[in-house]
Amino acid sequence: MCGIIGVTGADDAREVLLEGLERLEYRGYDSAGIALVDADGISRIRIADGTHSVALLREPARALDRGQRAGIGHNRWATHGQPSERNAHPHVDCSGDIVLVHNGIVENYAELAAGLRQRGHEFRSDTDTEVFVHLIEEQMQQGSDLVSSLRNVLQKVRGTFGLGVMSIKDPELLVAARRVSPLVIGVSGEATYLASDIPAILEHTREIIALDDDQIAQLRPNSVVIETLEGEPITPRLRTIAWDVEAAQKGGFEDFMSKEIDEQPTAIADTLRGRIDGDGRIVLDQLDLSDEELRKITHVSVVACGSSFHAGLVAKYALEHWARLPVEVDIASEFRYRDPVLHDTSLVIGVSQSGETVDTLQALRQAASSGAKVIVVSNVVDSSMAREADGVLYTHAGPEIGVAATKTVVAQIVALELLGLRLAQVRGTLTPEEVATQVAALRAMPDIVADAITRNDDVQKVAEAVNDAKDFFFLGRHAGYPTALEGALKLKEISYLHAEGYPGGELKHGPLAVIEPGCVVVAVASSGPLQEKMLSNVAEVKARGATVILVVDDGDEEASAQGDFVLSVPPAPALLAPLKDIVALQQFAYHLARGRGLDVDRPRNLAKTVTVE
Ligand code: AGP
Repeated sequence: MCGIIGVTGADDAREVLLEGLERLEYRGYDSAGIALVDADGISRIRIADGTHSVALLREPARALDRGQRAGIGHNRWATHGQPSERNAHPHVDCSGDIVLVHNGIVENYAELAAGLRQRGHEFRSDTDTEVFVHLIEEQMQQGSDLVSSLRNVLQKVRGTFGLGVMSIKDPELLVAARRVSPLVIGVSGEATYLASDIPAILEHTREIIALDDDQIAQLRPNSVVIETLEGEPITPRLRTIAWDVEAAQKGGFEDFMSKEIDEQPTAIADTLRGRIDGDGRIVLDQLDLSDEELRKITHVSVVACGSSFHAGLVAKYALEHWARLPVEVDIASEFRYRDPVLHDTSLVIGVSQSGETVDTLQALRQAASSGAKVIVVSNVVDSSMAREADGVLYTHAGPEIGVAATKTVVAQIVALELLGLRLAQVRGTLTPEEVATQVAALRAMPDIVADAITRNDDVQKVAEAVNDAKDFFFLGRHAGYPTALEGALKLKEISYLHAEGYPGGELKHGPLAVIEPGCVVVAVASSGPLQEKMLSNVAEVKARGATVILVVDDGDEEASAQGDFVLSVPPAPALLAPLKDIVALQQFAYHLARGRGLDVDRPRNLAKTVTVE
């Protein structure tokens, strides 16, 4: 989710790189760097000062300029290794002749790096990316050119990449390759551009070629050659972009929220990536808790706010079932002001996409002072919480711009469920076969969630049908209960409508009194252990005249018949069902808010990160 810019043939390569990085800033980043390349060498500068890094590059970058016409640049959003100058891209090899930028994750970097170190390579960063330059260096030392070297190296690498690489041996050549992480090439006739995102190069050209997975491209000032990784030639498809820069930053989506809803399959896949080894063992290397420590845990306490709290609630069902540990889930602002009973066998998990929410941060500090082990699920590497905790479980959802959390929530659920399976593994509460079944189910979720997203038009029709309603009740049971809470939060947050979430079983204990014609009840009734009971609750609200919208699995005619409207979702095991049921509720909230003409990305009164109490 970092940003890449590259150019060859520009009159002022330095300016192209800096402007490109500025155009990519909207994605969020923690450090930035550029490298200018000519036959005399590589001039590189990197700065790690959060979202000021590109501006700070400008002044020192002047000193690098000797009229170079080519180079590469990068805005980094840390995944491996903290945000720092040494970890910022571009990275160079030992000789300093090869320079590279990379988006994505190298799953087998530890193994590759160990081999390279043994063969005498010196690493100057803690990133997974650096293995690329050293592997290319080895290939070039054996006489291969840059393209063949990269081709050979990519065969050894497991994971995802969008990368640009240059060498002083052929300084007009910029080589790019892609697997999963997007890359586009821009052509102007005089210069050729490379970027991870169209806005970075829109100022220079509107003629764009999108690189597909497993393709490698050779960019020269007035030519582009594209081949598959196996060397088969590809005829580039040129398209002319009509969008303005703002539209392009949203990747053709109307707003960041719909873009981020669409990115959820990738967020799930990236959060799973590299965390299950060949033997089916869950590997959470930054957790920093030994198997022995995991076995000693007697109780788990999750603290979080808002949507992150809902992700924690989903995890409670999974952790208790799989790891047979008692799990409490607390709103952080309550936890910090009560007197929670914690001891050195307690595991306290802070869940926060930003890693900066002040209530969660303070709650974790309090937990740490009582001797509990503290870990954090964060989407931001080296956030305050990540720095202070004993261990970290990063989600890899990429920066989330919309105030309403979407892709980070599903990524949090996945990260917590991986932790649940790890606990079950070391504590022996699931057999290896049972763990393997859950792992396979988790691995299927990116496709299932992608399928759920395709129902958007149907969800829009249902939202339009209840456009006049003022009161919404979201009901769910079991893992469907936090899903209902999240659906209600999403709706109130972006549409400003009254929405409440309840466990279905609580209906008779109060809320039923306010149900009357005009109320809309959204019930999460996808198949699960309590579906029948959920449908009895539905009958109760129907009898009082509510309009009922049911979230049901495809083909469940019996359940569907009980709703006035249906949001169909693909089926999934009950403990993973929130990942796809939440999608329908995000889209429902989205369309109601858009129908009311509201800005879904910047809801009134709310901030993306809440750093005040
Ligand atoms: C959700 O849509 C909200 N914007 C909000 O509830 C958010 O989840 C909460 O503020 C917690 O933020 P965090 O995950 O960054 O700690």
